[in-house]
Amino acid sequence: MQKPTATAKKYIKNHDVEAIVLPVFSDEKDDPLFQDYDILMSKQISQTLDENKFLREDNTFTLFYTNKKTKAKLIAVVGLGKKEELSLEKLRQLGGKSFSYFAEKDAQSVALPLITAKKLKDTDEAAIEKVARALTEGFLLAAYDYDQFKTKKEEKEKEKKKQKIVSMQLITFNDIDLQRSQQSIATVTAIVNNVNLVRDLINGPPSIVTPDFIAQTAKKELSNKPYTRLTIFDKKLLEKNKMNCILGVCQGSVNEPKLIIAEYTPPKYTKTVVIIGKGVTYDSGGINLKPTGYLETMKDDMSGAAVVLATIKTAAELKLPVKLIALAPCVENMPSGSAIKPGDVIVGMSGKSIEIGNTDAEGRLILSDALHYAATCKPDYIIDLATLTGACVVALGSLCSAIMSKDDTLKQAITKASKETNEKVWELPLLEEYRDDIKSDIADLKNIGAGKGEAGSITAGLFLSEFVGDCKWMHIDIAGPVWTTKGSAYTQKGATGYGLRLMIEFLQELSKKK
Ligand code: BES
Ligand code: MG
Ligand code: ZN
Repeated sequence: MQKPTATAKKYIKNHDVEAIVLPVFSDEKDDPLFQDYDILMSKQISQTLDENKFLREDNTFTLFYTNKKTKAKLIAVVGLGKKEELSLEKLRQLGGKSFSYFAEKDAQSVALPLITAKKLKDTDEAAIEKVARALTEGFLLAAYDYDQFKTKKEEKEKEKKKQKIVSMQLITFNDIDLQRSQQSIATVTAIVNNVNLVRDLINGPPSIVTPDFIAQTAKKELSNKPYTRLTIFDKKLLEKNKMNCILGVCQGSVNEPKLIIAEYTPPKYTKTVVIIGKGVTYDSGGINLKPTGYLETMKDDMSGAAVVLATIKTAAELKLPVKLIALAPCVENMPSGSAIKPGDVIVGMSGKSIEIGNTDAEGRLILSDALHYAATCKPDYIIDLATLTGACVVALGSLCSAIMSKDDTLKQAITKASKETNEKVWELPLLEEYRDDIKSDIADLKNIGAGKGEAGSITAGLFLSEFVGDCKWMHIDIAGPVWTTKGSAYTQKGATGYGLRLMIEFLQELSKKK
């Protein structure tokens, strides 16, 4: 698809667009664009709406064929219900649904008007930039399709239909809004491209997306990005740095581990943030092998790594004035004669000894080396993103991640970013009382908690906290929302790309602070 554009309303009648979306509300007058189209359509649209009031209710699409009365071939009147209940998320969904609706109807180009609102339900203010961003974001996110491995012609044709839409434009009502929308479009295009990079990496088969593949991808994606630097620790360098936890988890695999260190140092910045992403390219559980039913989606266990690498790339593209270090420890967790075993003890880079209680609790092991390394960088903040525990999915389901931190500023900032992006988070408490549960009888720590996985997400968080020193740190357990079996208005089955928009929103706000 081409890069979206924005046009001012005065040009639209002459503009070549095949399909147009006209949003209507149940409690508000229709906008001038609607009026114009209604007149061109000999008032057929308003008559239909007057006779069928329910068409203004939320999420109602009504199609009008224009029969050459307008340049556009198709008009979809979309009911959005009450204007006072309008939210950024509704706009994002409108964007996504508009894409799918017209993709099925073979339209090549689609136009959506900006909706003016003083306030949106889920945000403090409703600046036109936000509206433009949400509509475009939903539309572009919905256009994603992972079809690299489809070989059957009919299947491909069916999927291809989606790709028929080649352009999207926003219609604005004045020139200032036009300029602002163009800015939003530039930003959101970069963001969505990177969400799709995350999706591609996660959807990729695990025998292709190995630690080395992720390292090569980082190289490729960051190669021409200004102010970035990439270092890759291979097995030798990991050994030299005593990163024995990363090495240990990967020692049963034929694929060698990599620690990817990507830095972005803009000319001007006040804050430094280290972002760490769990990069288990396949989590079989190791010697504590997972059973059928749990193995099938474990290629998504590198979602954190994909998110942090795409985040640093996006930050460089958007020229965010914040220094970033992305750490992605990448390993494969496999059972074999050389694999680590329950009962083993590993001393990683931090010097703390860890007894292996369960080889399937591998994420916290590789993160411990990365967190220790991060703490030596003395950043303002450390944030890790990890598909860390099944317990998190039990607690919060597949729509929400768990945040754990002792820093109120970080918690507030991430919660705010979560509201803006609708990438949901919920806090779990790092209860000190549970710290005893990760003590070992023979080593400093053990990598599992007590009982039958009681407070499994929290004890995992407490384990990580052992390696951050006195840094301000947040752990985000993204085990639930990175993957979906259903798909929604702007996500498809499989990898959702969750986390990238959350991180960028957080960093954008942070970079505004002194
Ligand atoms: N990658 C899994 C966590 C996971 C489970 C993510 C389900 C997404 C869906 C992680 O490495 C793991 O296996 N955790 C264990 C920890 C346990 C052995 C203490 C778990 O949650 O069962
Ligand atoms: Mg595991
Ligand atoms: Zn795992």
